[in-house]
Amino acid sequence: MCGIVGYAGNRQAPSLLLEGLKRLEYRGYDSAGMAVAVNGQIERRRAEGKLANLESLIQKDPIKGVVALGHTRWATHGKPSEENAHPHADCSRSLVVIHNGIIENYVELKDALLAKGHRFESETDTEVVAHLIEEKLKNLRPQPMPDLNEPLLFEATRLALGDVRGAYALAVLWSKAPGVIIAAKTASPLIIGLGQGENFLASDIPAFLAHTRKAVFLEDGEMAVLKADRCTYFNLAGKRLEKTPVQIQWDRTMAEKAGHRHFMLKEIYEQPSACEDTLRGRFFPLKDALEREAGLPAYVMKDARSIYMVACGTAYHACLVGKYWLERLAGIPVHVETASEFRYRETMLGKEDLVVTVSQSGETADTLAAVRLAKERGAKVLAICNTVGSAITRAADFNLYTHCGPEFGVASTKAFIGQLAAMAVFSLHCALARGKMSEPQARELVDELLKVPGQIRAALKLEPKIKEIARRYFKKEHFLFIGRYVNFPVALEGALKLKEISYIHAEGYAAGELKHGPIALIDPDMPVVAIATRSRVAEKTVSSIQEVKARGAEVIALVTEGDPKLKGVEHQLALPAATELLSPLINTIPLQLLAYHIADLRGCDVDQPRNLAKSVTVE
Ligand code: AGP
Repeated sequence: MCGIVGYAGNRQAPSLLLEGLKRLEYRGYDSAGMAVAVNGQIERRRAEGKLANLESLIQKDPIKGVVALGHTRWATHGKPSEENAHPHADCSRSLVVIHNGIIENYVELKDALLAKGHRFESETDTEVVAHLIEEKLKNLRPQPMPDLNEPLLFEATRLALGDVRGAYALAVLWSKAPGVIIAAKTASPLIIGLGQGENFLASDIPAFLAHTRKAVFLEDGEMAVLKADRCTYFNLAGKRLEKTPVQIQWDRTMAEKAGHRHFMLKEIYEQPSACEDTLRGRFFPLKDALEREAGLPAYVMKDARSIYMVACGTAYHACLVGKYWLERLAGIPVHVETASEFRYRETMLGKEDLVVTVSQSGETADTLAAVRLAKERGAKVLAICNTVGSAITRAADFNLYTHCGPEFGVASTKAFIGQLAAMAVFSLHCALARGKMSEPQARELVDELLKVPGQIRAALKLEPKIKEIARRYFKKEHFLFIGRYVNFPVALEGALKLKEISYIHAEGYAAGELKHGPIALIDPDMPVVAIATRSRVAEKTVSSIQEVKARGAEVIALVTEGDPKLKGVEHQLALPAATELLSPLINTIPLQLLAYHIADLRGCDVDQPRNLAKSVTVE
């Protein structure tokens, strides 16, 4: 998730764009850059690190111009660096592109462009688009048009996007087409801000809200030609479109949270795209996809004696789900450990084992220490991480990134869904590498995985009902969460979400464990959240529900749409039918929403709960 801004008008663009980029820093900030088209040239300034570094660079070495592009990066392909910072240029350095999204087929496009003699300066997928447009311009015959170059640039960009597969919100500037920005959108947000004698484009509203509240939201497959005095719209077939502007009512703070009251709720609603973006580009072509995406060769998965997974908190729960998946699909022994314990145990880990570590921040001290221990033992390490260039990713041998964008809520939500999606990608490719799954079987699982973002969207529609349930129970001081099989870790995660933002004592338990002690706790003042969606063990979970009902508990049950109602269960949240193995990606959603609304009703600081830090960088 990156921040994109563009301006075409009659004021000096650099200061306007810097101001806009500051409003988008919540979207990404490992590097930043800007470009203006002036005097037949493109002037670029780019800097690694925080936006302030770009600002001081521009103060030292100013650029001037009234048409410009700006970008803050949250790296997906290529480490944070000046070379990888946007805008990216073509060979002639006269055309630049900024981009938010993922070009799935960038490797094959880059190979073809290299074969035609194009020279690349970065490791990013984005740079491919600049060279692709350059290549199309070479082949386009100049059209007899009054303003010759604007249609050329539009047509070349349109043709280039015809070769691109993936998600993009992008903008293009060419020194030979001064005064015009070409923009295009598929799967990543891009909004036009319509001013008086000036126009803006941005990934998100806060970037231009100080200058105009009149906005046009581009839809997938749409393009815009942005100039100071007008903006015209087209589809990817080049057909002219009429777009109706809307008036933005939000203030800036609301806009940064997309109208939600807290970052946590905004991030809960970003989970369909976090899942989509993490799955994107990792199955087509299936063969060697992990080598392409994570540098992880198939033989490492094939030859591994066992897999050790180490992580903390929510990331640890993602590993617990992964254990069920890997044992079921890949037939490999899996040991899951909290990093804080692993680093002090007499572990049997050896160089024949593969270590998988999961971390949103990539900076968790215990997890980093566990990775270093694994390396000392000669084991190879795969990091599943949301932060490119973080300490854990630098220590690991292979990196499979979740593409969730920055997560600001201390309670991890979209990162967890991204971790599960990445874990599913890894489990599938591990099963293929070990010959435990055929390609047709893998494609069937991919088809099921690609349904998950839609199923998450359906689960989010339960929010009003969940809010009602939260109103009934927010004053309780104890909760029990129970689940079985792949949903046992979901029960743990649901309990963690509730306890860390509402400060209510909540425990997650394997439902089958109730009779071995916890059932002694049950009484009407201890609501029980039971995950009883369709599964091979659903009947057993229903028995557990009856056990707690018999002892006076009130039950909130997650069930599957269309299944018979559970007798005597007060609250039943019906979720879309999903493949059992993948149900944790959907069942987690209502538990996050329940925790959020209970905490909100208790007046807790949902985004920054007491005693907690977003990244625990100390032991
Ligand atoms: C999650 O809600 C918690 N805030 C916490 O458990 C977190 O998952 C844990 O600290 C690990 O962080 P990491 O993913 O950045 O390594």
